Amino acid sequence: MNVGVIGVGHVGLVTAGALAELGHRVMAVDLNRDKIELLRSGKIPFYEPDLDDLIAVQARTDRLFFDSDPRKAAQDAEVLFICVGRPTTATGDASLTAVEAVGRDVAHRAGAGVVIAEKSTVPPGTADRLRLTIAREEPGLAFTVVANPEFLREGNAVRDTLRPDRIVVGSDDARGFEVMRRLYKPLVDLGIPLIETDVRTAELSKLASNAFLAAKISFANSLARLAELTGADVVKIAEVMGADTRIGTSFLNAGLGFGGYCLPKDTQTLERIAQRAGYDFQLLRSVILVNEEAITAVASKVEEAIWNLEGKRISLLGLAFKAGTEDVRGAPALVLARRFIEEGASVIGHDPMAAAASRSMVPHLETSDDPYEAVTGAHCVVVCTDWPEYRRLDLDRLRERMAYPIVVDGRNVLDPDRAERAGLTYLPIGRPARHGEANQGD
Ligand code: UDX
Repeated sequence: MNVGVIGVGHVGLVTAGALAELGHRVMAVDLNRDKIELLRSGKIPFYEPDLDDLIAVQARTDRLFFDSDPRKAAQDAEVLFICVGRPTTATGDASLTAVEAVGRDVAHRAGAGVVIAEKSTVPPGTADRLRLTIAREEPGLAFTVVANPEFLREGNAVRDTLRPDRIVVGSDDARGFEVMRRLYKPLVDLGIPLIETDVRTAELSKLASNAFLAAKISFANSLARLAELTGADVVKIAEVMGADTRIGTSFLNAGLGFGGYCLPKDTQTLERIAQRAGYDFQLLRSVILVNEEAITAVASKVEEAIWNLEGKRISLLGLAFKAGTEDVRGAPALVLARRFIEEGASVIGHDPMAAAASRSMVPHLETSDDPYEAVTGAHCVVVCTDWPEYRRLDLDRLRERMAYPIVVDGRNVLDPDRAERAGLTYLPIGRPARHGEANQGD
């Protein structure tokens, strides 16, 4: 099938590569010419494992093309994906300016019978708006608008798109379903469920999925607070809960809370949608508050452990919002960095991928490429991202380099026994502290 993709950010580029991989002929466009030139030369504008291979193979097999002219995407396209950004406004509402602009533009360029598919995460009712806009711009054009949300995670995007847990297609007419079934036939043939709904349900289901994941994390973080007050271990509680297949093990890790570009934004958007619709989604308001509290709880642990921050040195291990990405949007580590710097501390961070991006976001933040160098002279080390390499750190070497032997483990990645043996005062989240420092010399 001929497919057009408008917007080659994380979602658009992965979608384009994956659809080409499934055998379709894909024209991906973006107004950013530099990005298009980069892609044409075989390079990827951001880090995403396996995406360069996917794009390179596809470009060679003549099934994937890049252009900065939106007309190229609309020409001959049977399905036209809208993958432009959907930021939030100052009030937390979804900003749909870019989505509308694409709708107005494609109205004049698309061929009869085109299916316009929303990939961007949008509030319910957006497809209706798009439909009206296109009909006003180009009366007489026969077209269908469908919602086809994606659920890809950064760092796992290619796998998530080629082997998704489910495909969701929301359409209000039979043609939308028919075209999208053909598009995804190779995946459906593999046994991947394709769930068909009306458009508004599909739009809402994406926001609901992300908000639910956020709710699981906030539940774990509330339990962490309670576990600390009652002397229990939240990691073990999560293991016990997760063993129940109705609950599941994932997204129950307590720590610094959820960051990134999607979970915080989508949770807030859903809460605003509910508010505007006249429903007080109290649960979501709590999810958001508990997530803010998760960062404050870690900051308080640091302040409690080292007293005044003025003149102290704090080392942050991990700056990206999660492991496996260079993305620092919504990264809890940067919130901490700003806070500690404001309170007069000098802050140095280490991250395998996100150091440069972090420096550009936080004035006065120093970084080092080596974790041992980053902790040298530190009065407190805070683990902020669950990079696997932090589990393998030599904690004796770490301790020797630090000014005070205090580690706040904001992601519960270190082994408490090893930390204690290394003579560290080890302060994890929602589990008992270890006081190896006090035992030194025993
Ligand atoms: C998320 C959704 O998972 C994905 O389906 C959607 O399409 C886009 O948003 P992503 O933003 O890549 O994906 O990050 P995700 O892996 O969901 O992690 C989000 C945040 O939650 C990270 O900051 C992570 O550290 C945090 N998290 C995750 C926890 O604090 N605890 C957990 O148990 C899991």
